[in-house]
Amino acid sequence: MAEFRIKVNGQVHSVDVLPDTPVLWVLRDNLGLTGTKFGCGIAQCGACTVFLDGQPLRSCSLPVSGLGNGEITTIEGLTGREGEAVRNAWIARDVPQCGYCQSGQIMSAVALLKQIKKPTDRDIDLAMNGNLCRCATYVRIRAAIHEAAKLLES
Ligand code: FES
Ligand code: FES
Repeated sequence: MAEFRIKVNGQVHSVDVLPDTPVLWVLRDNLGLTGTKFGCGIAQCGACTVFLDGQPLRSCSLPVSGLGNGEITTIEGLTGREGEAVRNAWIARDVPQCGYCQSGQIMSAVALLKQIKKPTDRDIDLAMNGNLCRCATYVRIRAAIHEAAKLLES
């Protein structure tokens, strides 16, 4: 075991874990931030997506020892215009079905809208390609991202 100081959602936490513990485990088991989900554990499904210094990261596949001074943002700490627009669009379009994949979907959608203000269907499909949904909410996700882009115009 070793002590790591990690910054999550603007707060510094001290955790005592093995160095190879995935960031996802630390978030969920040590910090109680269970909005981020475990799906595949091998960086293939996107359920565990968080931001590391503003960039999307599969938190199942980075050991806590690899975080350095990077700051993590989880779904619980998502703020800003894009975050708000995506949340509102998700509600308006009634996107989630079982909901399991949705925090990862939302994080990826916010990352996309930070990069591209008015994404095309192709931009959306490319950006969201790594986020799987077993309930197949893909059509509603696409519509909600277009709606969020519109909300951001106003
Ligand atoms: S749980 Fe991390 S990508 Fe699937
Ligand atoms: S809403 Fe059920 S897995 Fe995506």
